[in-house]
Amino acid sequence: MVTPAHHPNPPAAASAEPNAVVPHTAELNAAALRQAFGAYPTGVVALGALRDGEPVGLAVSSFVSISLEPPMVAVSVARTSTTWPRLTEAPVLGLSVLSRGQGALCRRLASREGDRFDGTGWQATPDGAVLIHDAALWQTARVNAVYDGGDHEIVLMELLTVELFPGVEPLVFHTSQFRELTPHG
Ligand SMILES: Cc1cc2nc3c(=O)[nH]c(=O)nc-3n(C[C@H](O)[C@H](O)[C@H](O)COP(=O)(O)O)c2cc1C
Repeated sequence: MVTPAHHPNPPAAASAEPNAVVPHTAELNAAALRQAFGAYPTGVVALGALRDGEPVGLAVSSFVSISLEPPMVAVSVARTSTTWPRLTEAPVLGLSVLSRGQGALCRRLASREGDRFDGTGWQATPDGAVLIHDAALWQTARVNAVYDGGDHEIVLMELLTVELFPGVEPLVFHTSQFRELTPHG
């Protein structure tokens, strides 16, 4: 049932209620859109591969599972990314679903200063995918197609391997903050 507090256009009387939520219609500028997109909770995935023997990577919250047959996933990467052009040349990419408590590690993997992998446990597969230790899920994938996504590129990847670590809780990203899952009910 839609209650006045959750209705997109609450009647005027609803605002008199103590718990009434008045929706906020924002302009579609970058700051407002960042805030709006941040209302949708996601996990965070570390993309990584070896380039010239060194780990290269970045954190993305845009990961989405796409297809079971064939197995496919996608991410969207900013056209301004300086790391993606190096990553996309790698034959195989590692995708690590970061776990609860890996928020600082995630910030480092997004930082433009310093060594992104400094202090981070990682390992490379024989085909050069870089995977982060203590993650909730490891996947390796190969870029299959790249589509126009405005100021981002939508990167469709074919999954090659998955390794799940049961019981390892994921990191959650919401409203620019890292959070933890809590059971409901
Ligand atoms: C939680 C979080 C999620 C992010 N998600 C994305 C994303 O989905 N796509 C993207 O292009 N950059 C994303 N970034 C930014 C990148 O991690 C990185 O900062 C950016 O690519 C700039 O670095 P670069 O020039 O080395 O690529 C995210 C950063 C954080 C902290």
